Amino acid sequence: MAEHESLEFGKADFVLLDNVSMEEFMANLKLRFEKGRIYTYIGEVVVSVNPYRAMNIYSRDTVEQYKGRELYERPPHLFAIADAAYKAMKRRNKDTCIVISGESGAGKTEASKYIMQYIAAITNPNQRAEVERVKNMLLKSNCVLEAFGNAKTNRNDNSSRFGKYMDINFDFKGDPIGGHINNYLLEKKQSRVIFQQEGERSFHSFYQLLKGGPDSLLRSLHIQKDPTAYNYIKVGGQIKSGINDSADFKAVADAMKVIGFTVDEIQTVYKILATILHLGNLTFGVDGDVTLIENTKLVSVIRELLSTKEENVEKALLYRTVATGRDVIEKQHTTQEASYGRDALAKAMYERLFCWIVGRINDIIEVKNYDARVHGKNTVIGVLDIYGFEIFQNNSFEQFCINYCNEKLQQLFIQLVLKQEQEEYQREGIPWKHIDYFNNQIIVDLVEQQHKGIFSVLDEACMNVGKVTDEVFLQGLNVKLVKHAHFTSRKLSPTDKSLEFDRDFRIRHYAGDVAYSVVGFIDKNKDTLFQDFKRLLYNSPHSSNPVLKGMWPEGKLRITEVTKRPLTAATIFKNSMISLVENLASKEPYYVRCIKPNDVKSPLLFEPERCRHQVEYLGLLENVRVRRAGFAYRQTYPRFLQRYKMISEFTWPNHDLPSDKDAVKKLLQGCKFDHDVAYGKTKVFIRTPRTLFSLEEQRAEMVKRIVVFLQKVWRGTLARMRYRRMRAALIILRAYRRYKVKSYIREVNRRFKNVRSMKDHGRHVKWPTPPKVLRKFEEAMKSIYNRWWAWTLIKGLSPEETLQVRAKVASLEALKGHRADLGLQRAWEGNYVLCFGQKRDNPDTASSFTLVSSELQRKDKFMRVLFSCNVRKINRFHKAEDRALLISDRHLYKMDPLKQYKPMKSIPLYNVTGLSVSPGKDQLVVFHTKDSRDLVVCLQRMVPANESRIGELVGTLLSHFKSEKRKLQVNITSPIQCSMNGRKCTVVVEPKINQSHPDFTKSRAGYILAVPGN
Ligand SMILES: Nc1ncnc2c1ncn2[C@@H]1O[C@H](COP(=O)(O)OP(=O)(O)OP(=O)(O)O)[C@@H](O)[C@H]1O
Ligand SMILES: [Mg+2]
Repeated sequence: MAEHESLEFGKADFVLLDNVSMEEFMANLKLRFEKGRIYTYIGEVVVSVNPYRAMNIYSRDTVEQYKGRELYERPPHLFAIADAAYKAMKRRNKDTCIVISGESGAGKTEASKYIMQYIAAITNPNQRAEVERVKNMLLKSNCVLEAFGNAKTNRNDNSSRFGKYMDINFDFKGDPIGGHINNYLLEKKQSRVIFQQEGERSFHSFYQLLKGGPDSLLRSLHIQKDPTAYNYIKVGGQIKSGINDSADFKAVADAMKVIGFTVDEIQTVYKILATILHLGNLTFGVDGDVTLIENTKLVSVIRELLSTKEENVEKALLYRTVATGRDVIEKQHTTQEASYGRDALAKAMYERLFCWIVGRINDIIEVKNYDARVHGKNTVIGVLDIYGFEIFQNNSFEQFCINYCNEKLQQLFIQLVLKQEQEEYQREGIPWKHIDYFNNQIIVDLVEQQHKGIFSVLDEACMNVGKVTDEVFLQGLNVKLVKHAHFTSRKLSPTDKSLEFDRDFRIRHYAGDVAYSVVGFIDKNKDTLFQDFKRLLYNSPHSSNPVLKGMWPEGKLRITEVTKRPLTAATIFKNSMISLVENLASKEPYYVRCIKPNDVKSPLLFEPERCRHQVEYLGLLENVRVRRAGFAYRQTYPRFLQRYKMISEFTWPNHDLPSDKDAVKKLLQGCKFDHDVAYGKTKVFIRTPRTLFSLEEQRAEMVKRIVVFLQKVWRGTLARMRYRRMRAALIILRAYRRYKVKSYIREVNRRFKNVRSMKDHGRHVKWPTPPKVLRKFEEAMKSIYNRWWAWTLIKGLSPEETLQVRAKVASLEALKGHRADLGLQRAWEGNYVLCFGQKRDNPDTASSFTLVSSELQRKDKFMRVLFSCNVRKINRFHKAEDRALLISDRHLYKMDPLKQYKPMKSIPLYNVTGLSVSPGKDQLVVFHTKDSRDLVVCLQRMVPANESRIGELVGTLLSHFKSEKRKLQVNITSPIQCSMNGRKCTVVVEPKINQSHPDFTKSRAGYILAVPGN
């Protein structure tokens, strides 16, 4: 929010005065000065009072406070106006200019430097090297120009003795890319070069060279350190001042180097300064009727510095070449003429030097390689620092020119601020009470009008052949301007004793009456430098010094060619003023009006009369009046809407009212600003800047919301886009997955379609690789298939075959991987002792076995025989004997084959808890019983002999136990642990080479089953 100053500092804007009167104006100005508030606004004009002390208001921090702010957000400051000009240029692509005016010592040059400093500080945020270089050169050029163009005067220790207008060019991004300097009328045709008033000095450059130049340089220039040794700067040389010439010399030399002056160029500059100093010490005398130079040694020094011939220098100083018709004659000067010529030469050399420096700087800082089609429009901020109105005791040609210049600027100000403004109100049909102001066009005309104007009369007088005097010029004025209301002289108003006959005339300037003395007008207006000097300097270098040659282009002309008169000083000045004003008029102007509070450079003294006078002639009061009566801001309706339409619901985003004007009305009524505005035909006018500021604030507030809104919409759009993309991806993904699944299932279907009719029921069919998601499914399918396949295999089996399959499965489950050859491939006949089937183990004795077995069946009521086989068995006495083993579904019988299978002791099957077999090929099997009387047998005498029946025995028993829902423990170990009559022992299988049948022998730990080995 705006940082407004408290009222104890007075009003920050003169527009806010209660009454617009000189008293109030002065009181406010004084109060603010005393409170250290040196800047005050009149609308957008800054009134600045020289504080004559260092103010802590130009720091980097302050720059930041003003950067990008509106004029009214912060207390009045130069930075605010610089920012406004910069913004206008950047935002609206407008060329702008800042016109700084005020009298000598009012602070114009300081102000222009602060403005430059501010612009340099806020531009080039990207620190581009090229832009930094340009900025540096623009800032450094000041230092050089001040050294050669400024001098200590009684009013100002660093008084600019020339007017300066500097353009800074900006690229489309708003970064400085170059500049251009125009300089106007170096003081009094450089009379300061040869003479100074008491208390004043010549241009800084001379003292800097003497005080700061290194000894070797001074030696080469043949000059000494003491300024009082030189007639031209003697007066100023005696002055003590706070200026540090020696340090300044180094700074300037350094700046020249940075800007890009070559070593030769800098040397030439020093040579010219030295030449001028030496010229001042030349004296002339007479010998008879011959004029001669008294100190000829100096001539050779000058000759050396100008690198020309000695006789040429001498001739140019003592003679004048005159062309009469075709003849060329040489006329000798009188001593007076010679001194006059010498001084004219010194002044002209300095003037050319200064102009050459400006031109050289311009060459360097000018915008290069800029193509508007590529880089966009290049815009300009101009800064004008020009002398203000001057009234001295004795006013001469210079004051006349300066005051004319100020009349022109006042005219521009009137044109832009007062006249245009009022005309615009009329045009727009805004009710408006005309404010009277004095239009000074009449005075401008008095000076510059063709044929009738003072400059014309002066030029005419100068053109007259024969002896022209200043009095003749005054007479001419008296004739031509006899009726002019702003011109008078003693002749025209004989009663006015303040004017001298034949010497003075008075002009009634807008800023007050000024009496001028015509003495010297003619001389100062003419180009009085003898042509001989121009030729001397042009020809001097013998090509060794092109710099000097370049300063004197007219020297090229031969004597007889010099017929065309050079332009007079007045004409040159007038032309430059007209083009300056034209230039300024094409830009959007900003004004800084500088006021000098006292003549003694005091930071405390506010001299009311002095200040009042300045306020008067700067027209500040009229400025306040027009400003107050007028409107601070105006804008065409469409552009106004474009900027502020977001403030009102009726205009955002577009209005539906009949016209833009109505929409603006609606908008401003809504904001309750109706009382502060006027509606013109095409533009809306806002009276006070506060209203504008408040509109700006509301706009800024809304812009934030709009930005958030736009962000919201855009983020939403982005999110939706992302969502849609994601969803599409998901759909694709799903479709792909479904496709993969489907095609897998289709493939499975295709491959397994005909498995029923296949011989192996599809056992050979390869399963396709399933997609990852279907791995489980594949497992399930495989298992379904396996079950189906198994079912197809077993569904046609007889009950016996079924039993056999179950037994085989049980055997497989128990022994697979532990024992080889489970006998799965053959039919399991079970009752091998009996003579069923092809194979019979005991064909001879089968009938007796059948008998016994039937007997046992009857007696024990068993259902079927599970297994029977011949075995070798270990008896109670650890002896091996042959037996037949018969396992029914209820008992395990041991029979003696030698006794017609007489049944021995039987073991009920429910007593059997487990079986142990070895992992080898042997047919050893141990039946474990509940009562720890394990039965250890080895199947034997099988047909065919090597048949393995362990698999079958284990499988059949397991299957049977399972059908009775009982558990049977099957161990596959070696050696086998068993328990004989309650005693633990082991059975080890040992292959033996000569063993024909397996047989048991007793060992220490139990028994050894020796099997035939090979
Ligand atoms: N803003 C300021 N802060 C401090 N001192 C200032 C300020 N403005 C001016 N001064 C002092 O006033 C002196 C004169 O100022 P400056 O050279 O700008 O005057 P000017 O208007 O350019 O005069 P001239 O017409 O003679 O060139 C400066 O050297 C400085 O001491
Ligand atoms: Mg100045």
